[in-house]
Amino acid sequence: MGTTIRIGVIGCGFYAQNHLNAWRDLAPFGAALTAVCDVDPAKAKAAGETFGVPWYTDVKAMLATEKLDAVDIVTRQDTHRAIAETTIAHGVSTIVQKPFAPTWEDATAIVDAARKAGVWLAVHENFRFQAPLRAVRKVIDSGAIGEPSWARITFRTGFDVYKTQPYFLDEEKLVIADVGVHVLDVSRFLLGDVSRISCEIQRRNPRVKAEDDTATMLLRHESGAVSVVEATYEARRADDWFPETLLEIEGPRGSIIVTAGCKMKLTSDGKATTSDIGAPLLSWTSHPWHVSQEGAMGACRHFLDCLQRGVPAETRGEDNLKTYALVDAAYKAAAEHRAVAPVRWS
Ligand SMILES: NC(=O)c1ccc[n+]([C@@H]2O[C@H](COP(=O)([O-])OP(=O)(O)OC[C@H]3O[C@@H](n4cnc5c(N)ncnc54)[C@H](O)[C@@H]3O)[C@@H](O)[C@H]2O)c1
Repeated sequence: MGTTIRIGVIGCGFYAQNHLNAWRDLAPFGAALTAVCDVDPAKAKAAGETFGVPWYTDVKAMLATEKLDAVDIVTRQDTHRAIAETTIAHGVSTIVQKPFAPTWEDATAIVDAARKAGVWLAVHENFRFQAPLRAVRKVIDSGAIGEPSWARITFRTGFDVYKTQPYFLDEEKLVIADVGVHVLDVSRFLLGDVSRISCEIQRRNPRVKAEDDTATMLLRHESGAVSVVEATYEARRADDWFPETLLEIEGPRGSIIVTAGCKMKLTSDGKATTSDIGAPLLSWTSHPWHVSQEGAMGACRHFLDCLQRGVPAETRGEDNLKTYALVDAAYKAAAEHRAVAPVRWS
């Protein structure tokens, strides 16, 4: 077991339940879920009682009373900057759920504050920590297909996401900001940084306020690779594999194809092998959310390890700004009908 890391979870709503379960499961490895906080007393109390820790309705009160090494912010994006600036000012390592913040200005302000204060900061960007996507990265690293030169990465579902997240209906920006951000991050994770992106958006569901419930994006990566990245909440299919990301990647020596049910077909030098790359169910995960829940667990495991070793996370603030810039560039590309280079931040 590594050093003990005392963690406070801020926001005890829908998705936070996955973080709370993950931190509890990581207790044998040094995670100490120490307190929870939600402005809604009923949610704070319920989480406190379920996980056996003190509960608060005010972040500053929690920081003043509890000795925390890290906080995990699982509120919605409009609150991230104010909460993160408070926790960073207290010198507490800070994890922020995606989307990082509503605007580039807010996201960069959080990174800037952490940098100036010398505080460890990470974004809970969890798709890249899902077992199937880790397995794909491992195959790429093995050189079995050579350097990837082309990919299609897709998240297509008609699952009723509005049931658990009704606020989606009123968002100004929807599918790219909410799930496109994950799939774009996966494209960076597997193929490297991006030099330009073009994008077509569609609103296929009239109940949605945003112009995008569907996005089809075309990326040129700095390596020269090209990828097609798709995200939609409006795919009507009898077999809906929510929330799996499916993909095809080609290189000079072969290809990786991930199909529904976390099946991977690898072709290397003309020889094909098929394997199951899904992770087993955990005590608190269930279909259909399992793939996402297990990814949240993988992200928390990674953050714990980095905090214990005192090293930056893969999805540290600076890294996540590159994904954030890609989201902004996709919206700009859709509005201006042209390919756009993502903004760089240093
Ligand atoms: N990574 C994923 O796969 C994934 C999936 C779903 C949601 N999310 C993200 O998780 C975040 C939360 O989404 P959700 O659906 O759980 O929202 P939610 O509305 O269910 O929960 C948010 C909670 O934060 C609380 N809150 C608001 N302001 C607060 C403050 N100042 N201090 C303490 N608590 C406060 C609210 O009372 C609420 O209980 C969002 O950023 C969302 O994008 C990520």
